[in-house]
Amino acid sequence: MSLDFKPGAFNDFFRDETFREDFTYRNSPQNIRRFPFPFDRDDYMYSVNMEPHVPGRKGTAFEHILDVDEHYVAEMIDRAKVLADDPLRCQSLPHMTLAGWDLLELIMEAKARDYPHWFSLTKDGKRWHWVNRPLGIDHTFTFLDESTLPYGPFEYITRQTQGDFSLQDERDGTLWMDAGMVTSQADWSLDFDVGMNFHEWHAPVPLAHEKGVFDRALKFLMKLQHGSPVRRFNWTMTVNPLLDTAPETYPIWGPTKTTLTPENLGDKQHLRVELQSLYRLPRSNAIAFDIRCYLASFNEIVTVPKWARRLHRVVRDLPEELATYKGFIRNRPAMVEWLAKHDDGAPTSPGW
Ligand code: HEM
Repeated sequence: MSLDFKPGAFNDFFRDETFREDFTYRNSPQNIRRFPFPFDRDDYMYSVNMEPHVPGRKGTAFEHILDVDEHYVAEMIDRAKVLADDPLRCQSLPHMTLAGWDLLELIMEAKARDYPHWFSLTKDGKRWHWVNRPLGIDHTFTFLDESTLPYGPFEYITRQTQGDFSLQDERDGTLWMDAGMVTSQADWSLDFDVGMNFHEWHAPVPLAHEKGVFDRALKFLMKLQHGSPVRRFNWTMTVNPLLDTAPETYPIWGPTKTTLTPENLGDKQHLRVELQSLYRLPRSNAIAFDIRCYLASFNEIVTVPKWARRLHRVVRDLPEELATYKGFIRNRPAMVEWLAKHDDGAPTSPGW
């Protein structure tokens, strides 16, 4: 068994695109149309915005519970590079191994069911045969026996799955972030947060605590049932299509915020959307949190006129505390000026 990436006969993926150095990442026109634009109105404020994570319309990012898109292989290569540079981006405390197996089962079953041309899972009792064709993996192992995998179950499966993941243990009336695979995060650190509880890791977020958002969100999550996952959106802004905006690498990417000009802004400035989904796991009773990151440049966004109008209004009117926390207060005036040219002032419909 090898985890080396073997180019196969799959043309569905942009294998060679990069999320670093020369930044060749782009969305195809089809992928722009399925971009999960996160705003359902012309303004934005934090809320407990959770809904059932049920399969959605064909051709959207919600068609399946785990979305595999054209960036799959390139994202997995980027993750492997981040982990080679900094192994602490994946951590699992000893009591989370069972939750790792739960997650492995969830992901393998979902991918084999929803993408049978790319993935297959065959079970003979506890002997499982997993095939991941895009990454060239063909592996037989024993479920719940770690010695039959090259990594722990959590690291093994999240090295093959787009999106960051954390696993939360439930105890003492709260959730504890006791495992994570975090290589495409919006400026937060797994190594700092691991072992913290729900209110502790959310401490830096402005305005939401006093609005009771986190008290209500935690109450909601404690009632999460196995088989009824939920989802929500989060979003921020990133200069360049950089997946790994970690505090650990801030000296590399932080200064790039000063490189925007009116000429390059449409290409360099990216809206970063997180489609977050939450699952109660069956054996461990842990909660898995999947943070799937989608990047689209402003040039890509404004190919959809109603998105262009709305993004302009949201960025323009966002409370200062949120623009500061999300790290784009410095560039907001330039972004608003650029986006204003794509806003004809027409009214928009709430709800889409
Ligand atoms: C931000 C984790 C669930 C709302 C964050 C951050 C982390 C995180 C690590 C970054 C904090 C920082 O700046 O260091 C998680 C995990 C969850 C979870 C592991 C599930 C177990 C939720 C839920 C809500 C929520 C259910 C619903 C209201 C927020 C908000 C922010 C945030 C509003 C600020 C995001 C921004 O403005 O970019 N979360 N979260 N989180 N979280 Fe959560």
